[in-house]
Amino acid sequence: MATPPLAAVLLLLLLAVSGTSHPQAAAAEPLASSPFDAALAALQKQIGYAFRSPDLLRRAMTHASYSRENGRALAVLGLAASQSAAALRALAADRDAPAAAVSRAARDAAGEAACAAAGARAGIPAIVRVAGGTKAAAAPVVCGALRALVGAVAVDNGTADAAAEVFWRLQVLSDTPTTAAM
Ligand SMILES: *[C@@H]1O[C@H](CO)[C@@H](O)[C@H](O)[C@H]1NC(C)=O
Repeated sequence: MATPPLAAVLLLLLLAVSGTSHPQAAAAEPLASSPFDAALAALQKQIGYAFRSPDLLRRAMTHASYSRENGRALAVLGLAASQSAAALRALAADRDAPAAAVSRAARDAAGEAACAAAGARAGIPAIVRVAGGTKAAAAPVVCGALRALVGAVAVDNGTADAAAEVFWRLQVLSDTPTTAAM
């Protein structure tokens, strides 16, 4: 028995149709003008730091659920840099500051609550790329992205100083509307 002719014809038709629509080289990510890139440009203005390697910023604003190339490693550095900045500020203000106070300053500055608030004020929930089932506004996502941002500045700049500057600027961004508008 031969295959039913109708099925064979349909199959041939399908093949012919898919053959004619030239598969346009699986559209590479638009480089300059995607909404994501526009948001990254605005974010750089907001934090007062222009990246030499915008790729680092892209990576920082990418959650692990979205891509294997994400901000997790940058966030490790960002957390350490934030703690370092806070401990330095505490000791610079008072060289006799007790260990517990310096420790608290470092912990508070880098804690998830402060970090997620700062990230929300900076608009990170609307920027960070996450996979479908992940909430971009969830505190761990926002906080991770904010830390990754600070870490990305350190790597881009080659110093922790620039990262500390951005870290404090983000704290200010987060403080101002709280006291003024709310
Ligand atoms: C590091 O950051 C500072 C402050 O934004 C900037 O003036 C300097 O050019 C940066 N250096 C590098 C190597 O990116």
